[in-house]
Amino acid sequence: MLDSKTIETIKSTVPVLEDKGVEITKRFYKLLFENHPELLNIFNHANQKQGRQQTALANAVYQAAKHIDHLENILPAVKQIAHKHRSLGIKPEQYPIVGENLLLAIQQVVGLQADDPIIQAWAEAYGVIADVFINVEKEMYQAAEEQPGGWKGFRNFVVAKKVKESDVITSFYLQAEDRKPIAAYEPGQYISVKVAIPGAEYTQIRQYSLSDSPNKDYYRMSVKKEVGTEVKPDGIISNYLHDFLNEGDLLPLSAPAGDFTLDTNKDIPVVLIAGGVGLTPMISMLNHLSEQYPHRPVTFIQAAKNSQIHAMREHVVKLTQEKNNVRSFFIYDSPTEEDRKRQLYDKEGHIDLDWLHSVIEDKESDFYFCGPVPFMETVNKALQTWGVKEDNIHFEFFGPAISI
Ligand code: HEM
Repeated sequence: MLDSKTIETIKSTVPVLEDKGVEITKRFYKLLFENHPELLNIFNHANQKQGRQQTALANAVYQAAKHIDHLENILPAVKQIAHKHRSLGIKPEQYPIVGENLLLAIQQVVGLQADDPIIQAWAEAYGVIADVFINVEKEMYQAAEEQPGGWKGFRNFVVAKKVKESDVITSFYLQAEDRKPIAAYEPGQYISVKVAIPGAEYTQIRQYSLSDSPNKDYYRMSVKKEVGTEVKPDGIISNYLHDFLNEGDLLPLSAPAGDFTLDTNKDIPVVLIAGGVGLTPMISMLNHLSEQYPHRPVTFIQAAKNSQIHAMREHVVKLTQEKNNVRSFFIYDSPTEEDRKRQLYDKEGHIDLDWLHSVIEDKESDFYFCGPVPFMETVNKALQTWGVKEDNIHFEFFGPAISI
């Protein structure tokens, strides 16, 4: 327990550190990787370059510090991060390493000595915050290992099948190399893959949502080939997987993780809204609902550029025809002439509230959505304007959580 003076010091210095948050975490990562280059094997180098991880970690530490006397209030956010940490294999003994380098960065950026009462207070607070994470993660490690088909760390899987889903998305069907059972998962969860690119100095880890229903003898992940722009380089890992990972090759995976999951305890209608490759967790939910919950009405809405990069279209059309409880709608923002001629879509342009009203009767539905940030913001705003209950709105951002 922290004493009241330490709590007061922490709370009064949070605004100062928040102000310098990104500068501190940038310095922190520089120090961390200079002192512990082996950690470059687990951190996402692309996120580092784009500064996304800096923002995520800075926010998390300061939000936690604000709630230092009632950390239970931020447990849901801790759990979301802990899922990611568990999936990456973060160990308790790595927390002091992060703590030391974070405190050093604060000292250097703010200009304080190690024995300054502010630094002492932050050292204590970091210890308390780290313990909360370590304890939550300990339970997650146990659960992942002890469940039927579960395992610890990374386990080798074989690419049993590689299927092109569209011009940019390819699915990989992955079976355990040891042929023993594999853990079930909840639709919406993801796996981490560990990739060792020949000639590269460090391994890289990435998360991909599982894109099929659970309880199969394989995991399926569907990966978008990230082609670079002027401001963003090509996705190193997604391009590697597309171009070099072939049937018969091995890929180490950690057990499924994540808290963006389908609530199957409710029986209200479900609306699944996917933008681009945000399709992957949505398809897992769609497949599961259509296989296991034939009485629960499901509306599947998919936004894509046009039919050429519209993955799994035939699958969704088939489900809609075969299953009484499934309806689907496609929205294209740049349909081709052929798309127009064949009327391959239901709406041209972008998703909006008027259109949602026209296809969804019941706002007492459970809404799940995933896609690029602007798409998610539009959908979220539309649902809030409509008055959909907060409890019925579920979404997942790709990449590090921006805030907690
Ligand atoms: C991801 C916070 C400790 C390694 C994250 C994220 C947050 C965060 C907010 C982004 C989560 C997301 O993607 O949704 C924290 C806090 C810590 C802590 C508050 C301490 C109290 C550690 C430690 C390590 C670590 C000890 C291991 C050295 C990572 C890695 C990622 C991550 C590798 C994935 C991000 C990437 O690769 O870009 N953490 N973390 N974290 N964390 Fe931590």
